[in-house]
Amino acid sequence: MDPVRAVKGMYDVLPEDSIKWQRVEAAFARTAALYGFREMRTPLLEPTRLFVRTVGEATDIVEKEMYSFAHHDEELTLRPEGTAGAARAYVEHHVHAKEAVTRWYYLGPMFRAEKPQRGRYRQFSQAGGEIFGDPGPGCDAEMIDMLVGFLKAIGVPGVEVLVNSIGSGDTRQRFRDALRAHFEPKKALLSEDSQRRLETNPLRILDSKDPRDVDASKDAPTILEHLSAEDRAHFDGLRSLLDALGIAHKVDTRLVRGLDYYTRTIFEIKGATQKLGAGNTLVGGGRYDNMIAELGGPSVPAIGFAAGLDRLLIAAEPAGAAAVVDAFVAPLGAAAMGPALVLARELRDKGVSVEADTRGASLKALLRRANSLGARLVLILGEGELGRGVVTLKDLAGHAQEELPKDRAVAIVTDRLAAAGAVRREEPSS
Ligand code: HAM
Repeated sequence: MDPVRAVKGMYDVLPEDSIKWQRVEAAFARTAALYGFREMRTPLLEPTRLFVRTVGEATDIVEKEMYSFAHHDEELTLRPEGTAGAARAYVEHHVHAKEAVTRWYYLGPMFRAEKPQRGRYRQFSQAGGEIFGDPGPGCDAEMIDMLVGFLKAIGVPGVEVLVNSIGSGDTRQRFRDALRAHFEPKKALLSEDSQRRLETNPLRILDSKDPRDVDASKDAPTILEHLSAEDRAHFDGLRSLLDALGIAHKVDTRLVRGLDYYTRTIFEIKGATQKLGAGNTLVGGGRYDNMIAELGGPSVPAIGFAAGLDRLLIAAEPAGAAAVVDAFVAPLGAAAMGPALVLARELRDKGVSVEADTRGASLKALLRRANSLGARLVLILGEGELGRGVVTLKDLAGHAQEELPKDRAVAIVTDRLAAAGAVRREEPSS
């Protein structure tokens, strides 16, 4: 029979890896909370026109990467990114009327039908954040500072910050015209994709990794030459605040980002890792001061970022396996099963994570299982123990063994684990 496999570009996360995911997600949530971001969640499905309007018709995402389908009379798309949905929710719930500044974060899967490779998947996860209502550049600098701190904290080596400004108002249009004028005479030298981009979106030529395009863009005009005085002041303000925060950063005048909604500040953060090849951009973000108004809301400035969690896990290599449980309860013989299950429940009630054997395996097999789970303590209940009203406690780390009175076993085990600093779950409050 033909085995059923996961969809190309999508993958399973099994428990030995999901523990790493949980740690990185928890570290992100903690960092975000320290900076006043609150979690929000949006649906995975949105009306297709939301992304066409915001991400932009002439972008790779909208042109060829969206999972879109018609359902009855609705055109729907699996979200390729989180900003458009967050902005839609901000407008839909009139959030601007409730608070002057909104800081939201989110974690979750996104979908893009890209060519899969290491670090590039068709279902991937982002940790993102958006700030509505603050024109910057203070919050722009603070956001980058938060991200650099987060990446360093989870162990990403060689964090590198790239910044640029895409201007506002008609800057982009003027820059587009200047780029067209530059590339038109070299059209035949460009890649086929970029020959097409010359008509639809010449900024994207700067983003191309094709050596022909890189060559033709070497002496291309830079957007910084086209910034208005206000945009220039905003960008200079961002740079001096980054300096004040001690954040090393490079101005990359070729940075344009692959989404059309940006205005003014744009940035990317990379890590020095060979493991991701060319796709070593870990975080991308920027300002999108026009999106809220374009979605029918008031004129509210905004900035945000998204970090690719799949890539963070590859770049940071978070520490390996943790213990699955703190203790293992080993009943020997049928009569011990009931008392063992009761003991396991009493331990769990005190916040100790426990696996109890329910297979009736041999002591040797049970000890092997306890070891493989990383359990520190094993509580053995055999016929002898039942008769004497005791439990045998085996400390797998200290290699010691002793008998405990059964009615004191829970208290002693809890104390021992606390003293050993073993992983303890929160005690239930009720
Ligand atoms: P983006 O640059 O398209 O920006 O994606 C952000 C990050 O998501 C990338 O730097 C990368 O780490 C990860 N990523 C993107 N595509 C893939 C993929 N196919 N496989 C694995 N990881 C991927 C955005 O999505 C914007 N919404 C960021 C933003 C928020 N701008 C303002 N607010």
